[in-house]
Amino acid sequence: MADLKTHYMGLELKSPIIVGASNLVTNPDNLKRIEKAGAGAIVYKTLFEEQVQLENLELSERKSEYEERNAEMIKLFPDINTDSSEIQDHLTALKRAKEAVSIPVIASLNAVVRSTWVEYAKKIQETGVDGIELNFYTVPEKYDKEHEDIESSQIEILRNVKAAISIPVSVKLSPFYTNPLNLISDLDKAGADAFVLFNRLFQPDIDIQTEEHIFPYTLSNKEDCRLPLRFAGLLYGNTKASVCSSSGIISGTDVIKMLLAGADCVQVVSTVYLNQIEVIDNMLKEVDKWMDSKGYNNIESFRGKLSKKNTKNKLPYHRAQYMDFMMTTTEIMKKYKIIH
Ligand SMILES: Cc1cc2nc3c(=O)[nH]c(=O)nc-3n(C[C@H](O)[C@H](O)[C@H](O)COP(=O)(O)O)c2cc1C
Repeated sequence: MADLKTHYMGLELKSPIIVGASNLVTNPDNLKRIEKAGAGAIVYKTLFEEQVQLENLELSERKSEYEERNAEMIKLFPDINTDSSEIQDHLTALKRAKEAVSIPVIASLNAVVRSTWVEYAKKIQETGVDGIELNFYTVPEKYDKEHEDIESSQIEILRNVKAAISIPVSVKLSPFYTNPLNLISDLDKAGADAFVLFNRLFQPDIDIQTEEHIFPYTLSNKEDCRLPLRFAGLLYGNTKASVCSSSGIISGTDVIKMLLAGADCVQVVSTVYLNQIEVIDNMLKEVDKWMDSKGYNNIESFRGKLSKKNTKNKLPYHRAQYMDFMMTTTEIMKKYKIIH
């Protein structure tokens, strides 16, 4: 059995597979099964400040008042109550999760107002969790909001949280920035202990019969891991913080790819829904078997081998257009029987 240990946000993990934030982890039995299946850590479901505050409003008020977010939240909720029973319940659940397993438990936070990010982070630290993941995303609904404002406010939130607590802090980002590498580099300098790349965000759909919006859960598929794969390779050797790849990591093969590109570890959610919690054990067995076949005793002996820094072939890190010298157009037409 190869040594599957890795390091993530200053924590030693017994394996490189973390179960990411989702509703899966709010069930105590699932937490134990996740640990038994060999996961290196668990990220608890996000504390969404917006949801907590909205739950405090009557539905009718919600409909009329809930039009804008962020700065408007202060107007909407002049007396934000960071001690509400919903918050207390979440903190108690975090404490219980931490007590239920011996692997690291990382809390996740998505606050709305700058000051409350810090208040919630302090309360979360008191639960005894091993780290906090800051879930940075709001839908950019306003045309006049400058990208610098969005990014500088996220950097400031990270700095303030880091200054207020002593446990490690990771940042989970969406890929929707003009230049994610630039923001990552600024967040790295501001003290991030890790990056989770990337969040796969919820997107609404439309039912064409009822002609209404619907809100179905969707899960990732295998191809979704290509974007985090590229970024793991671009970032290897360029950040102090660790990198955890996320989105579309379904099998042990996908974990190996991420590690070869340079990730320190991965987060998984969809595959756990699709293939049961015990899929983690199968994925780890696949990684172990592959390492054995290649003669690798530990993850560090191959991590980053195909990163931009280490690979001879830089093409995967430069090209994103469908150029014919990378793939032949006849091949894809034959595959889909457009030509024979
Ligand atoms: C049912 C469900 C609930 C989720 N809840 C959260 C959450 O509370 N916080 C969060 O940061 N991400 C949440 N996510 C996103 C996942 O943590 C993850 O980033 C995303 O699903 C991509 O990983 P995957 O391809 O392994 O599913 C959720 C995803 C699903 C499917």
